[in-house]
Amino acid sequence: MRKKIVAGNWKMNTLPAEGATLAHEIVSRITEVPSDVQLILAPPFTHLDRVAEAIKDSSAALSAQNCADRDKGAFTGEVSAAMIAAAGCTYVILGHSERREYYHETSATLNSKMALALANGLRPIYCVGEKLEEREAGRHFDVVGAQIREVLFNLTPEQMASVVVAYEPVWAIGTGKTATAEQAQEIHAFIRKTLAEKYGWLSEEISILYGGSCKPANARELFAQKDIDGGLIGGAALKADDFIAIARSF
Ligand code: 13P
Repeated sequence: MRKKIVAGNWKMNTLPAEGATLAHEIVSRITEVPSDVQLILAPPFTHLDRVAEAIKDSSAALSAQNCADRDKGAFTGEVSAAMIAAAGCTYVILGHSERREYYHETSATLNSKMALALANGLRPIYCVGEKLEEREAGRHFDVVGAQIREVLFNLTPEQMASVVVAYEPVWAIGTGKTATAEQAQEIHAFIRKTLAEKYGWLSEEISILYGGSCKPANARELFAQKDIDGGLIGGAALKADDFIAIARSF
């Protein structure tokens, strides 16, 4: 059985006190969420300690939104995988399209980040997804296939077993435009098939999340698809009501 996951990527939103309040609100309602759904909260780095404290007696897990591509040392402004793990994270989001686009993260950078995250016991949530022009040109399978092969194909099966994949079409992020359940299922099935080329049966065990304008109104239809194992939620993760409603949508 694949793990069902609903992860909230808070991006660069909330101040630490607001983040702690949001985390408290979410865990106070966690009993409304089916017990087989793993909730993950990914606040900004500056809130990790406070959110870790807020969720410590719950089943929710903590994630960072990024980590450095170097181990330690003179890399001003960076935060290492070891620091994130020490702050209480069990997950780290890697390769989000905003990182690829605005901070020029390449597969080479992401290979380093992935190796460091795994070496520090973190479970990477590895994001893939095509831009609008790539979908319109019918290149979405090529783009997503390359993002999988260039990074995930470098892992051992043991490492791959701890990875979560998130498919987030760039044209659906923060735009209010969601992929249809059919479009999302089609590419999730493609991702699983691509993983199977390298990892065989293990691909059936990997959770693949959908992200991009996922909200209470569309989560149920998306999560009902065979290869969609949950969601990576942006805007709707900033409201406890919406986040809990999404997590109840399986
Ligand atoms: P939205 O849910 O705001 O579209 O963001 C999705 C996302 O990028 C999550 O990582």
